[in-house]
Amino acid sequence: MRLGHVSDLHLSDRGRYPRNGHVPRDCDKYSVRLAQRVLEGLEQAGIDHLVVTGDLTLSAEASEFERAAKLLRRFADAGKLTIVPGNHDVWTAESVKTARFLRMVGPDGKGMRVAEATYPFAALPSPEVAIVALDSSQYGEDPHETPGMLGSSQLQACRELVREQVKEGRAVLLALHHHLILPRERIRSDAMVAHMPLLDADKVIRMVSDVRVAGVLHGHRHCAFRIDIPGAAGPTPVLCAGSASRVSDVPVRRARGYVYEVDRGGIRSVRPVFPPLD
Ligand SMILES: [Fe+2]
Ligand SMILES: [Fe+2]
Repeated sequence: MRLGHVSDLHLSDRGRYPRNGHVPRDCDKYSVRLAQRVLEGLEQAGIDHLVVTGDLTLSAEASEFERAAKLLRRFADAGKLTIVPGNHDVWTAESVKTARFLRMVGPDGKGMRVAEATYPFAALPSPEVAIVALDSSQYGEDPHETPGMLGSSQLQACRELVREQVKEGRAVLLALHHHLILPRERIRSDAMVAHMPLLDADKVIRMVSDVRVAGVLHGHRHCAFRIDIPGAAGPTPVLCAGSASRVSDVPVRRARGYVYEVDRGGIRSVRPVFPPLD
């Protein structure tokens, strides 16, 4: 099957800022038009399913979730969408109290009338492939300093889901927002991320070495990279999609999405899809 992956759309409602620690200029770093064109490119590539690994919004405002739901609607309506939340989707106390992410977008882009604990769960976009969707987002009073975390019960449930799906003969991909590991050359430029790591990344890395995970998809860093880590089934790709809406000429930061060819044996190919240059 052909799987699409985008992340960090950071859709914003510019007229509402300054608020939530952001100023209007922060909105200009991202372009909904670029995100639209990346999604069009993925559709043209013939993807069977789309994974969005969080940070759909800039600061979890209701109008921003509305924009995200609208942008992704055709994938949601077709039942071809799996979404995990990012730290920006739980940016404010109010957004968390009202379960805004789950109600307005949720795990499949359709939103939930009654928000219920949802993650982790296994999505089955093809008979050969399972996506285990994880929630690493955590609310904190200072969101700029709040790390991500999966927690021991979610990690345990994840491990069981992976085992079940492997038993069914499927390739299993994990989808979460936060990165597990940074490439050496990005550590200096991504120093900010020291404030918002995934606290239990080491436990995910250990899980990948114990149970057969075919790949890990994430975002959070607005640059694209791939690191292969030792896995129970051999070297396992950990893929950061960067931001699908970032306005940047720096090659690793350019807005993009990814297309993966996946079958029972794992990820066979990885191809970036860029919006056409104006
Ligand atoms: Fe982000
Ligand atoms: Fe993030």
